[in-house]
Amino acid sequence: MNIPSVVLNSGAKMPQLGLGTWDLRGSECVRAVRDALDAGYRHVDTASLYGNEKEVGLAVKKSGVPRKDLFITSKIWNDEHDDPEAALEASLKRLGTDYVDLYLIHWPVPERNETWRAFEGFLKDKRCRSVGVSNFTVRHLKELLNKRNVVPAVNQIEFSPFLYQKDILQFCNESKIRLVASSPLTHGRKLKHAVIAALAKKYSKTPAQIVLRWHIQHGIVPIPKSKSRERIEENAAIFDFSISREDMALLDGLDEGYHYYADPGDEP
Ligand SMILES: NC(=O)c1ccc[n+]([C@@H]2O[C@H](COP(=O)([O-])OP(=O)(O)OC[C@H]3O[C@@H](n4cnc5c(N)ncnc54)[C@H](OP(=O)(O)O)[C@@H]3O)[C@@H](O)[C@H]2O)c1
Repeated sequence: MNIPSVVLNSGAKMPQLGLGTWDLRGSECVRAVRDALDAGYRHVDTASLYGNEKEVGLAVKKSGVPRKDLFITSKIWNDEHDDPEAALEASLKRLGTDYVDLYLIHWPVPERNETWRAFEGFLKDKRCRSVGVSNFTVRHLKELLNKRNVVPAVNQIEFSPFLYQKDILQFCNESKIRLVASSPLTHGRKLKHAVIAALAKKYSKTPAQIVLRWHIQHGIVPIPKSKSRERIEENAAIFDFSISREDMALLDGLDEGYHYYADPGDEP
């Protein structure tokens, strides 16, 4: 499976589809990441919060895929901001690598702008090839851009046809920040929707493939999670068809502000 890449504002290439790993633990995590790498994935999303960086690192090692061909994302969690240096070093150690391709501020906690100063240092010493943020609203992004020099390479936010956050997408595009979609499949909750089902039939694809292809055509990087080898392969088979302009508009119209996770809009 050949997964195309996008170029981030740091100059780094990021495969336009990644494996999400929230909820994957222990041997199940090792197996799922290995299955994904076997299927051609080269981009894996983890976080210190997920408690599985060690297993992600183990799967990478076992796969034999050269480190330089991989794109690994991790994130600093809310209780680690007092010492970002220690947080990064702990993640690198658990992952068994000396750099991450992307390191994110997981949540827009009040200390975010100070932590970003440390992230700028990680970029300089190359322990992070790119740095970015997650769950930032336009207000959080504008504030950061006003205060600091380095523009985040990525904003990872919950995004799907049912949560089509056009204002953030537009602001990110204008600011050269790549939008990465967490929970692109609505955590599986909306895949039976009649419009999705009808388009799946029309294009001879599955509901998940329709939803993921919608992200791709919006220039977004989706990171669906699955523990099943079959679904991991299914989720990557989205680069051999196109959704028409009319059907993209139909999918755009499904927005209902559906959040599976907490809405970060209220963070100060
Ligand atoms: N930055 C953040 O704050 C944040 C927040 C949430 C998530 N994330 C990241 O985003 C990733 C994805 O989000 P997510 O895990 O919440 O949800 P998701 O990827 O939208 O959905 C995962 C769910 O959908 C099922 N699924 C996967 N492929 C499917 C398919 N082809 N057909 C039907 N069902 C399918 C999975 O079940 P099976 O496993 O049984 O296949 C699982 O229950 C996370 O794993 C994590 O890496 C980041």
